[in-house]
Amino acid sequence: MNSIIVGLQWGDEGKGKVVDLLSPSFCYVVRFQGGNNAGHTLVLGDQTIALHLVPSGILREGVQCIIGNGVVLDPQVLVEELEKLQSIGVNTSSLRVSSIAHIILPLHRTRDSSQEEKLGQKKIGTTKRGIGPTYEDKIGRRGMRVCDFINTELRQEKLRKFASNSAQHNYEELEAWAAPLAEKLADCSTDTPALLHEAILENKPILFEGAQGTFLDIDHGSYPYVTSSNTVAGSACAGAGVGPTHIKNVIGIAKAYLTRVGSGPFATELFDQVGERIQRVGGEFGATTGRPRRCGWLDLPQLKRSCMLNGVTHLCLTKIDVLSGLSEISLCIAHEEAGPKYKTFPGWEEDITQIRNFEELPKTCQEYVLFVESFIATPITMVSVGPDRNANIFRGSFF
Ligand code: GDP
Ligand code: IMO
Ligand code: MG
Repeated sequence: MNSIIVGLQWGDEGKGKVVDLLSPSFCYVVRFQGGNNAGHTLVLGDQTIALHLVPSGILREGVQCIIGNGVVLDPQVLVEELEKLQSIGVNTSSLRVSSIAHIILPLHRTRDSSQEEKLGQKKIGTTKRGIGPTYEDKIGRRGMRVCDFINTELRQEKLRKFASNSAQHNYEELEAWAAPLAEKLADCSTDTPALLHEAILENKPILFEGAQGTFLDIDHGSYPYVTSSNTVAGSACAGAGVGPTHIKNVIGIAKAYLTRVGSGPFATELFDQVGERIQRVGGEFGATTGRPRRCGWLDLPQLKRSCMLNGVTHLCLTKIDVLSGLSEISLCIAHEEAGPKYKTFPGWEEDITQIRNFEELPKTCQEYVLFVESFIATPITMVSVGPDRNANIFRGSFF
């Protein structure tokens, strides 16, 4: 029953929506990689909530949310996000943070921006949240962990060292920023792998919430145009401190088309009015940086590879409602020397956002879904037809 939710494309597939939807079936929801480069949007009726660091199970009373050791954590962002949630009446008291997660310092954000500037035309298009530089320091064995940060002596020693290597930040400024945040973080920091181990012994189900997407993975993505963590399902074990023998399902999330924020290759990208229409109707603007997302047709060989890399057991196909009204819809079925090879389907006119049974979808829409399913040889368990928590068509069960 312990399950991992991962993005199968370049992020923003709708992971947050699906985590929020499925979290009542779990006792714990755990973020295991990335940081506040993520933007996970939840829609409940007329309320829209964008989460960056806090797991998307937070709206469900009785679900304990955990920020795992694999996450890089900006304490200022965490405090602000928690205050914002509390201001709309969300109970955040059960959130726990791994004591060995690494801290994003203001100097990491500065370094992120200046590295991007130096790359000029070749920039990655990062979110400038300091993600890459923090993972660099982690791997370089000079990072600041939560347990260092909340220990005054260790924090000050490390901050002095960081400041001595920084042209832009001095020790006094860093410590003035850190001290009040450390006090707040101390209350929720704990040995989260031990906490999860106890949950496993008590048969309490855990949902692991991925951020970004498979082709932003540091190993498997379109390097160097990637993020600085492993985003694939396998990363959940290391990033939460849970052994692979305890995890059963891998739920992959994919959009019915493709988007990408930032630089890098995108074979099926659309530069015409169809691309613009998908961007407008799909609201394809970054939840974190507000940047327009590049849009294109669904790439089936890529999606199939993603299912392979993650060991996907169930797939959720999201945002298919965005394709309504297009006269033709293309699917990339192969990559040839001349470029992507497409299969083109007739579109459908109907608004499908209120439909809850697969058989009630327009025939052409059903055919599109079935073609995708047979190509990737992975069951499409759910089709999402709108941003709302309840706008879903189930074709099977997840657990
Ligand atoms: P995440 O990063 O994977 O959690 O995805 P984002 O939240 O960044 O982007 C997905 C966007 O699409 C959000 O604004 C969601 O509210 C919205 N969304 C999710 N599923 C659907 C869907 O089936 N249809 C439509 N129209 N919007 C959706
Ligand atoms: P969610 O979880 C889409 C992209 C950035 C950039 C690259 C590296 O909402 O799906 P980084 O700041 O991580 O060093 O940037 O990765 N990126 C995302 N794109 N969704 C995300 O998260 C992303 N997080 C990072 O745009 O191209
Ligand atoms: Mg997002």
